[in-house]
Formats: sequence, structure tokens, C-alpha cells
Amino acid sequence: MNTKVVKINRIQPNPGAIYEAGLIIKNGGLVAFPTETVYGLGGDAFNSSSSKKIYEAKGRPSDNPLIVHIANITDIDAVATDIPSIAYELAAKYWPGPLTMILKKRPELPKETTGGLDTVAVRMPVNEVALDLITAAGGFVAAPSANRSGKPSPTLAQYVIEDMYGFVDMIIDGGDCEIGLESTIIDLTSSPAMILRPGYITFEELKEMIPDIVFDGTILDASSEEAPKAPGMKYRHYAPKAEMILVTGPTENVIAYINEKATRGRENGQNIGVIATDETQYLYVAPSIKTLGSRNNEKQIAKNLFRILREFDDEDTDIIYAESFEEKGVFRATMNRMIKASGNKEVRV
Ligand code: TXA
Ligand code: MG
Repeated sequence: MNTKVVKINRIQPNPGAIYEAGLIIKNGGLVAFPTETVYGLGGDAFNSSSSKKIYEAKGRPSDNPLIVHIANITDIDAVATDIPSIAYELAAKYWPGPLTMILKKRPELPKETTGGLDTVAVRMPVNEVALDLITAAGGFVAAPSANRSGKPSPTLAQYVIEDMYGFVDMIIDGGDCEIGLESTIIDLTSSPAMILRPGYITFEELKEMIPDIVFDGTILDASSEEAPKAPGMKYRHYAPKAEMILVTGPTENVIAYINEKATRGRENGQNIGVIATDETQYLYVAPSIKTLGSRNNEKQIAKNLFRILREFDDEDTDIIYAESFEEKGVFRATMNRMIKASGNKEVRV
């Protein structure tokens, strides 16, 4: 398949290209596009064959439902039914933005889009290119993250091109994604409401509106044998090519442990990488040390993770040792992705 790559952003708006992209989706094709969280791989949510194409292009199991992206809050009623009032309150506060709500689906929405479930995930992104595209495409764009299944979600167009070139009709390069981590997913069909995927909008914030909100216990507990409620959370995810090990403990212990491993690695001819922070980066001795940002800036740390994982792929790193973070605020989301990227390999030192 021929893939057209176009650059569109605030400084270079391109209504012609948006119109063309919308038409591609209306005609059953696929367009990868920027959102404020990560790039999405979009198709017409009401076209079951588009959803099938998305699964194929991603190499994703078809029991893993897609998020339906809308461009107007009121369009929620076209995909969901029996909507509780809290959904409208959350939408008023957090939309457009990085919050995805699980609601009861309308029968008109094809089951291919929802992975066979009778619920639907809905989100209204804030990115202007995304909103323009959704509108041009008819209002309902089903889109997972635009990575090949199992790889880190793309936060730059170059990674979408790497994964999706030849598999989609168009890739819109809108620059980097400001948040860099996927949306928070909250299930409003369960009682109490449940966070299925932690994200930029935190548990602590949501608790103010929904005091009895809970976490899907399978998300952060690596040893849980229960299936997570968001089907996608059960799959190996965000995995870099290298083996990745999360190192948790007092900072001095973490640094000593990683430096020891890096020295050993060098002796064994292994290419060792370190995921550090601004506060610690100069204290490591290893061939490749990358900082996520300052520990005082949880949003910056979240934004850099997926890019750094992709950079290690390009460096043919054998083993990545990563610092870990306390599970609160946005760090909870970063830790969730890091635990998955490492395939639950965490050492305590
Ligand atoms: O920020 C985001 O949410 C990005 C951008 C593109 O919007 N999208 C994204 O989509 O991360 P995806 O498909 O990579 O992740 C969606 C997650 C999956 O884990 C999926 O299983 C879950 O949402 N999900 C979707 N529909 C669901 C439903 N009806 N019930 C439970 N989980 C659902
Ligand atoms: Mg994804």
C-alpha cells in the first residue's frame, strides 16, 4: 500500500490535506494522526471493515477493543447509551483531553470496533489536528495507538512511519505529542467506577469527583492472576527490543546496583543502557545513559518515556536498567508503562 506522509500543525495548517484524510477514513481507509497523548491509527468507527483493517495494520488481537474518538461532547450519545450523569460531569471538566470513558455501547456501533464487548471506550482529544480530522472523517474515529502491537506507543511521527509505513493510507506528522502517554481510562459501567489504565489525569484528581473510585487491582499488581478489565492491559506492551529491568530502592542502592551491572555487562560485551533522571544521570557509568527528566516534574518524566524506549531500540541496547518512581500522581501511569515494558522484571535493592 502507498502511504502518503503529510506535515500538519498549528503553524502549517493544511485544510486540503485534512479534507483528503477525512475522505480516506469515510471511504474505509486508515489515517495515522497526532493527539495530545500519543499518535492514533484512525478508521471509521461505524465501519466494521475499517476496524478489522486497524487490527491487521497493528498486528493486534481482535478481542482488544478500540477507543472511539469524537470531536463534540454531545456526540457521546451517538455511540453510547444509558450514560450516567457523572460521564457528562467528567466530560465537562476533562474534555477535550486525555480521559477515556467506558460506557454502554449503542447497538449501531459494530462489535468489531469494541472487540466484541457491549461497552465502548470514548474520548474527545484536545489536539486541533485530531479534532479537525475527526470532524472531516464524519465525527467518529476508532483509533488505537499507532504502534505495531507490543511496541511503545509513538510520540513522534518518525516512529509511526517506522511501524505503519505501507500499512496505512496516510500518516499526518503533527510534531511531538505534548503529553506523551496514553489517556486515563475509567470504566463507568462498573460500580464503583474503576480506573482501568492510569494516565495523565490522576487517581487523586478523579477521586475528588468520584470519592469511591477504585483501581482495577490487576493493573499495578504484577503477580495478579486475574484478567484486567481493559483487554489490552493483559498483553505484553511497550516492550523495547532490549531486556528491561526496573530497579527499586533507596537512590544510592539503585545507582550502586546499576553501575555494578553495567561494569559486568561491559566485561561480557553487552551494551547496557540506563534510564535515569536529571538528579542522577551523572552518577552512572554506562555506555548509554538517558534521563527522563527531573523527579520534580512528573509530567516531563511521563512525556519522555516512550521516546527513550524507542531510542534504545535504535542503539541496539542489550539490557536497560531503569530507575523507578513512587506510585502516586502521574508517576503511577509512568510506572504502569515501565512495569509492562519490562515484562514485570523488577528488582528491589
Ligand atoms: O491516549 C489514548 O488513549 C490513545 C490515543 C490515540 O487516543 N489511544 C490508545 O488506544 O491508547 P489503545 O487502543 O492503544 O488503548 C486502548 C485501551 C486498550 O487497553 C483497550 O483494551 C482498552 O483501552 N479498551 C478499549 N475499549 C474498551 C472497553 N470497552 N472496555 C474496556 N477496555 C477497553
Ligand atoms: Mg496502545
